[in-house]
Amino acid sequence: MIITIIAGTNRKNSNSGKIARIIKEKVENSGDEVKLLDLVDMPSELFGPESYGDTPTSFAPFQDAITHTDGILTVVPEYNGSYPGALKFFIDLLKFPESLQGKPSCFVGISAGVFGSLRSVEQLQMVFQYRNAIQFNQYVILPKVNEKLAADGLSFLDDASDTRIDNLIRSFQSFCCYSAKAEIIYQ
Ligand SMILES: Cc1cc2nc3c(=O)[nH]c(=O)nc-3n(C[C@H](O)[C@H](O)[C@H](O)COP(=O)(O)O)c2cc1C
Repeated sequence: MIITIIAGTNRKNSNSGKIARIIKEKVENSGDEVKLLDLVDMPSELFGPESYGDTPTSFAPFQDAITHTDGILTVVPEYNGSYPGALKFFIDLLKFPESLQGKPSCFVGISAGVFGSLRSVEQLQMVFQYRNAIQFNQYVILPKVNEKLAADGLSFLDDASDTRIDNLIRSFQSFCCYSAKAEIIYQ
């Protein structure tokens, strides 16, 4: 099984990227293949207005990682009570309607403040639902994320965050296997 992990911002050295890498290692240790899409790696040429009509070929690896996956886990930071604009732009560049359709999807929200990006997760769930993704209803939110990440960004400082992420991964993997057997006819 292939799980694609999206680090949902193009901010350099982001906490989302660090947590996405922690999750990547955990998923790989469980035996599944992982593709990591860190939006910081999107070339700047993609962010021009031309990309809507004629998407540059540099987007192909990003599209490919979404097209050929068995599940998508998005790490989403809270930006102004929502999710980053770069993440919406990324979704808007994906081929319509097939990209997210039928794809099991789940979210990890992170924030500096106390709300843990819950609004961002819920807003993003609406977008994924619109695009016919198969929602896994469980998510993890990590408020005050700067107090939870180790200084090197390679692990969590607290066991609770570590366990919650472990449990989400395990349940989501099971959900992806279950979803693969569902026959859904899209109208
Ligand atoms: C543009 C911007 C807007 C932000 N807005 C919020 C916010 O509304 N609530 C909050 O708790 N933190 C907010 N933060 C802090 C981020 O949620 C926090 O720094 C998080 O770790 C950033 O994730 P990143 O490192 O992946 O960019 C904001 C940060 C940025 C850069």
